[in-house]
Amino acid sequence: MVGENLIYADNAATTRISDRAFKKMLPFLREQYGNASSQYSFGVKAKREIEQARKNVANAIGAEPSEIIFTSGGSEANSWVIRSILETYHKEQIHIITSAIEHHSVLNVCRAIERSGIEVTFLPVDYTGRVSVDDVLAAIKPHTKFITIMLANNEIGTIQPIAEISRLLKDKEILFHTDAVQAVGHIPVDVKALNVDYLTASAHKFYGAKGTGVLYRRSGLELPPLIFGGQQEHGVRAGTENVAGIIAAGCAIEESVEEMAERTNILRAMVEKTVKGIKDKIPLVRINGDSENQLPGMINLSFDNVPGESLMHLIDLKGVCVSTSSACNSGRDEPSHVLLALGLSEQQAKSAIRISYGKYNNIDEVDDVVMAVCDSYHKIVMNR
Ligand SMILES: Cc1ncc(COP(=O)(O)O)c(C=O)c1O
Repeated sequence: MVGENLIYADNAATTRISDRAFKKMLPFLREQYGNASSQYSFGVKAKREIEQARKNVANAIGAEPSEIIFTSGGSEANSWVIRSILETYHKEQIHIITSAIEHHSVLNVCRAIERSGIEVTFLPVDYTGRVSVDDVLAAIKPHTKFITIMLANNEIGTIQPIAEISRLLKDKEILFHTDAVQAVGHIPVDVKALNVDYLTASAHKFYGAKGTGVLYRRSGLELPPLIFGGQQEHGVRAGTENVAGIIAAGCAIEESVEEMAERTNILRAMVEKTVKGIKDKIPLVRINGDSENQLPGMINLSFDNVPGESLMHLIDLKGVCVSTSSACNSGRDEPSHVLLALGLSEQQAKSAIRISYGKYNNIDEVDDVVMAVCDSYHKIVMNR
């Protein structure tokens, strides 16, 4: 619950910063505002806290602190690692593989490097949103050098078989990146178990602050600098650090992992209750995603013949925040590329809404969410 009457059920778009992370970051904005590169104790204290945050992030994903680079967000980390292959494979004819349902911060950079002459395969997904491991294998060519496939999808919550895909790549010289923005802090993520070379995370999705991202880079791998200047972030991303944001990220990720098991049970119960409640009143609703491999807390629903945009606005008038598809797409009247890839028609894809619960929701809110969705749906249908 936010404010007096508002129910925020759009945690896949962003989360409220946790109380612990907020408290931890605040002094670094006003009292302890030193530059982490300064040599006197005021700066050294900030640097020490950044390094603690780096350890926390590393611990949370099974990495070493030296493998963690802080960025301005998930988009930056995705763009950076994918664009870096232009420089790494300068003038070589190379091929890369991704999926059709990636976040736009991956898809659009893949399209951009395709225009620069790199061959890109966009793999299809099945009706649940899963990439097939066999399709990955079949797509690999002698000159394939890089694969990027997300760990969990931001619109439907489907979790991909990343560890199985990385097993295919064991004896191949192919770098493997996963966009784990929706996964880190929500499901167990271990870079060694996943066996990925690069991984992206974003603090505002796990109860940290907006404007802080994480790029994991496996030890020993080259990464051309994104920003030139000082020696911050192991010399690959210059610029005065976002001290408070990084400290909040380190605190929030530790807390998210601590709370994960208990929170997951609550979120799953909320999802079950929501789906049952909506299905009871709207039997023809379609649930998009993969019930077996699904992020806790996320539900994507489509309703035949009802525009998701209108539905979302009516639900909003009832004090409930849900989204039409991904927050990044909203505002454009385009069907979701993710839902089209699942095989939904354009009309079905435009009829979808996403409900995503988080730790600041409670199960008592579910009845209000169900009522807001169902009443809004019936209002549109009756006014035809
Ligand atoms: C899967 C996925 N990747 C990347 C991003 C971009 O992250 P950021 O908002 O930190 O740039 C998002 C944000 O919605 C996302 O859901």
